[in-house]
Amino acid sequence: MRRKIVAGNWKMNGSKDLVQQLVGVICDRAVGLDDAAEVVVIPPAPYVPLVQQQSDGKLALGVQNVSEWQSGAYTGEVSADMAKDLGCGFVLVGHSERRQLFGESDDVAARKVERVLESGLTAVLCVGETLEQREAGEAEQVVAEQVRRGLAGVAGDQWEGVVVAYEPVWAIGTGKTATAEDAQAMHAEIRSVLKAMDAPAEEISVLYGGSVKADNAAALFSEPDIDGGLIGGASLKADEFISICRSFPAGN
Ligand code: PGA
Repeated sequence: MRRKIVAGNWKMNGSKDLVQQLVGVICDRAVGLDDAAEVVVIPPAPYVPLVQQQSDGKLALGVQNVSEWQSGAYTGEVSADMAKDLGCGFVLVGHSERRQLFGESDDVAARKVERVLESGLTAVLCVGETLEQREAGEAEQVVAEQVRRGLAGVAGDQWEGVVVAYEPVWAIGTGKTATAEDAQAMHAEIRSVLKAMDAPAEEISVLYGGSVKADNAAALFSEPDIDGGLIGGASLKADEFISICRSFPAGN
C-alpha cells in the first residue's frame, strides 16, 4: 500500500503566532483519524522546533529546501543532517519556486535528493511544466525528464525514501487547478517513468500540488494514481487544510 500524504508547504509565511493558532487544531482534527493521510507540516526551517513542540510530536515535519552539500563553509545553507537532527522526516527538493527564482537545475535537485536519502529522510521531488510547455504539448516530456534527472542517483533500497510531487507551475498559487483527469494522466505517466527506471513504481507515492483546496481535494484524491497533496496557500488556513486532510475516499 502506498503512503497517503498531505503536506502543507508554508513557503516563506508564518510567525510564532501562526504556529500557535494552527498547529493545535490541525493535530486535534486531522491527525490520527481512520482513513486519513499522514499529515506533514513544512514550515520555514526556524519554526520547525516550535511546530514540533506545539504538536507534541504528533505531526510529521519537513523543511522546504536543504543544501546540496553535506556540511562546511556554506554560509546561509541548512543541511539534510540538520533537518534530521531537528526531527524532520521530509524535505522538499526542486520546488518550482526554487527552480525559477533560485536557478536550481535538475542536477542540483539530484544532488539534494542524494543528500536527503543519505540522511535517511524522505525526499519529495517536485516536478511540473510551465504553461508555455503545456501549450506547446511538451508537458509529459518535461515532467518525465525532471523525474529521470532528479532521481538519477537513487539506488536500490533508497527508493523507499522517495516521494514525487507533480505541481504544474501554472497551477501554483493561481487558483487554477489541473482537472482530476489531467492530473491522473500525468501521475500515471510519472509512474511509468519510474517503472522504466527500475524503481518500485507501485510503492512510490505521487502527490498533486497546485491550488488544492477543500472543494477540489476529494476529486483529485479519488484518482487511482494520486496519493495525496502538496498544499501551499490552503495549508495556512486551519479549516481548509483540515478538510483537505479528510478528503480521501473511505477505505483508502
Ligand atoms: P498552492 O502551492 O497550493 O498555493 O498553489 C502549492 C505549492 O507550491 O506547493
